[in-house]
Amino acid sequence: SLSAHDKELIVKVWTKISPKAAQIGGDALGRLIVVFPQTKIYFSHFADLSPSSPQIKAHGAKVLGAIGEAVSSIDNVSASLSKLSELHAYNLRVDPVNFKLLAHTLLVSLSAALGAEFTPEIHLAWDKFLAIVAAVLSEKYR
Ligand code: HEM
Repeated sequence: SLSAHDKELIVKVWTKISPKAAQIGGDALGRLIVVFPQTKIYFSHFADLSPSSPQIKAHGAKVLGAIGEAVSSIDNVSASLSKLSELHAYNLRVDPVNFKLLAHTLLVSLSAALGAEFTPEIHLAWDKFLAIVAAVLSEKYR
């Protein structure tokens, strides 16, 4: 679970990157479909499935919007993402393994955005936080 210090680092990083959140989310989604091309199947209704696709970018921005809400409710991530958990499980039927893949590309995008400021300590805090987000998004599957 997240320590008080982890929470502090997560909020601090979010405050810093939130003006660029849409861009970072677009980068993470673009990486997801390139590095893990099997994820494209979920977006087959998009006209353009390249990493620079406006639909992919827009979707990445939405994902980061939800991450921002989870950061705002860091002590109750489960409640803040409950509706999205239902959407991904019952409507979209996204295999939960994909949440881990996205967590991975998101860490890479955060690192690219923060450069040297993406310290191992911040990496750890965000890895833990994104694992919680992935678990919450998967919790309606059973
Ligand atoms: C839609 C968040 C992971 C596939 C959405 C939406 C949000 C969201 C906010 C828009 C919901 C709406 O319009 O009401 C997240 C978060 C994720 C995540 C926070 C993990 C951190 C994934 C993954 C996949 C995926 C890993 C598949 C590889 C989809 C699809 C849609 C969607 C297909 C509908 C897109 C459309 O048709 O416009 N997600 N998502 N999501 N998500 Fe996710």
